[in-house]
Amino acid sequence: MSQVYLNGEYLPLDQAKISVLDRGFLFADGVYEVIPAYGGRLLRVDEHMQRLQNSLDAIRLENPLTVKQWLEAFDKLLVDNPNQGSADDKSIYLQVTRGVAAVRNHGFPEEVNQTVFMMVNELPSVDKEKLRMGVAAITLDDIRWKACNVKSISLLGNILLRQQAHDNDAAEAILINDGLVTEGAASNVFAVINDVLVTAPAGTRLLPGITRDLIVELAAQHNIPCEERDFTEAELLSASEIWFSSSTKEILPVVELNGNPVANGQPGPIWENMIELYQACKIKLRSGESN
Ligand code: PDD
Repeated sequence: MSQVYLNGEYLPLDQAKISVLDRGFLFADGVYEVIPAYGGRLLRVDEHMQRLQNSLDAIRLENPLTVKQWLEAFDKLLVDNPNQGSADDKSIYLQVTRGVAAVRNHGFPEEVNQTVFMMVNELPSVDKEKLRMGVAAITLDDIRWKACNVKSISLLGNILLRQQAHDNDAAEAILINDGLVTEGAASNVFAVINDVLVTAPAGTRLLPGITRDLIVELAAQHNIPCEERDFTEAELLSASEIWFSSSTKEILPVVELNGNPVANGQPGPIWENMIELYQACKIKLRSGESN
């Protein structure tokens, strides 16, 4: 039985209980993070902590813990859950809600006691050969709200879009907002257009992915032309490579879009290069050289 954290206590999963009056349950009034850990070390944890703070600020909720307290809890959970995950790879899921209020009322309660929950999940090891098979994707109209930069637990839009992709035999949806590509239902999107790696700019239309930022950084370090700019659905359809990025899926090539092959239906050379650079980051992290 995995050990989880709930409001200051470490408990077996089946003993962790919250009130039905929790605003996370009633209103999805809260935010979350997913942080990958390789060999017990968290990848880009400072960046995840900063994004958590940004999400909390955006929903006007005080951070219930200091960064030091968050990090201590992550370490304890990783140690207490040694058998989760293959090759010692795990992810931390955390969520903070606006807590329990005596009555259901949309406005904030006068007194807020945040509910804080954390758990460890398996991070299936990402086999490069398996990744190379790629996935199918479809484009869908982005039906979500106008604050997609907030990592909100209100994920109904994302869930419906992901399921619509599954219903069409695709692994993920690529979302289109006013003719522009934003991101995936639970990932960021990269495309290679005229030999330049392109991803939509940070802003309120998408979540600023930590994996996305790492890819942009790696591209700059290794002289891979990369632009953060708006790009259209038409540009996407003509791209020579398309990838998804996320903390749990790493960098996943799209080999089929809307039923048609992307280029020759194989992952392209820029993906081959980038996945090596990403794997090298993980190896460095495991050996304690970076975060
Ligand atoms: N989701 N965009 C959306 C809408 C996401 O849900 C995610 C990740 C990303 C990629 O962000 P990052 O690189 O920081 O993981 C982009 C997580 C993994 C999830 O909801 O499980």
